[in-house]
Amino acid sequence: MHSLVPTMDDIGFEELMNDPYPSFDRIRKEASAVWVSSARINLVTRFDDIMHIERNHADFASTNPGSLMNKIMGHSLMRKDDEEHQVERKAVETAFRPGVVKQYWAPRLEAISDRLIAGFEKDGETDLFNAFAAPMAAYGLTELLGFKSDVAWQDMCDWSQSLMDAVGNYTADPAIEARGHAAAASIATEIDRAMPEHRATENPSVLSSMAHAESLHSIDQIRANVNVIVGGGLNEPRDSILTTVMALLSNPDQLAQVRENRKLFAKAFEEAVRWVAPIGMYPRRVTRDVVLGDTQLKEGDQIGLCVGAANRDPSRFENAHAFDINRPRQGHLGFGAGPHFCAGTWVARQMVGEIAVPMLFDRLKNLRLHDSKPVTERGWVFRGPTSLPVQWDV
Ligand code: HEM
Repeated sequence: MHSLVPTMDDIGFEELMNDPYPSFDRIRKEASAVWVSSARINLVTRFDDIMHIERNHADFASTNPGSLMNKIMGHSLMRKDDEEHQVERKAVETAFRPGVVKQYWAPRLEAISDRLIAGFEKDGETDLFNAFAAPMAAYGLTELLGFKSDVAWQDMCDWSQSLMDAVGNYTADPAIEARGHAAAASIATEIDRAMPEHRATENPSVLSSMAHAESLHSIDQIRANVNVIVGGGLNEPRDSILTTVMALLSNPDQLAQVRENRKLFAKAFEEAVRWVAPIGMYPRRVTRDVVLGDTQLKEGDQIGLCVGAANRDPSRFENAHAFDINRPRQGHLGFGAGPHFCAGTWVARQMVGEIAVPMLFDRLKNLRLHDSKPVTERGWVFRGPTSLPVQWDV
């Protein structure tokens, strides 16, 4: 029995921002796609439905000419399909191949992590959001892109946030839109500053990879794809560092296992990305009238794939709301799926699971949650801790 998309009016936006998981459970039980009034989009929350969508790009396209993302960032690979997508994707992938990540990026990311920890390790307490996770992600991204090393990490964070705010600016607030355009202009300036060096000498950075791509990239293509990487390659490593640390500190038995067997740090990172997906939702456009599970969708419908909800689908994951590094190895949707599967997966695994998180636990003796300052978390489209106060022995 296929019905038109049902509506849910009683899920408040603040509820989604504070803790989306009870609402995700309700939506998942209701239907394959549900119009959630406060989110202003049809949400898809079941694991199998999202897998079906990601395998059927003819019916569920990433291309979306009217999207806010195109307006603010330019027409990037994220809003393209098929051949057009593949040629640009190849240039990004070249910079993040597993071998390049291990040999070239790992030592550089290690140096950043080491320098940041050295800056506060004698203090005995800090908030890991601004002291570590945000600058780690921002400096890391500066290197990966091939920007000049004098770019301030706070500027990278500001540009990233301004772009993401402008892409989610559904109420068309002119101030938010203006900040998005200003961020894109600053990023264009950084590309212009760095590009001559990359054109002259080939190296593993994203800019070099684009400059020397098999299929010639126009400056507009380069700008749009760099905007996407600044917008989407910063908050996810930041948030996944914080979520992994928070989860381990809140589960001392699992932390003890990880300390005993360092290989489990990688597993802890992967489980953290399943448990609290840093990108909780991303959009697709329905290209023709089509049935999804128990729901009839119409051509032109916008749907939001809630991977944050699918990653807690009880039909896929036992005891899905628990953080559990010992759960059986099973693919999740935290990095997406299909042709747009995260291009930065390998470098994120290295940066967070192999370098940043293990180094924190190695260097900060008896690392623990702060005894009087609370952890705060927020978001559903993007989710993670907004502060992580910790203490350690000095
Ligand atoms: C824990 C860290 C990360 C998570 C959870 C994550 C998650 C995702 C997800 C869910 C998508 C699919 C979005 C969609 O289909 O609309 C995606 C795409 C993408 N990610 Fe990541 N990401 C992470 C880190 C990174 C990093 C560090 C970079 C680059 C430096 C990066 C670059 C990209 C790019 C370029 C795409 C677009 C791929 C395409 O359209 O073909 N990501 N990411």
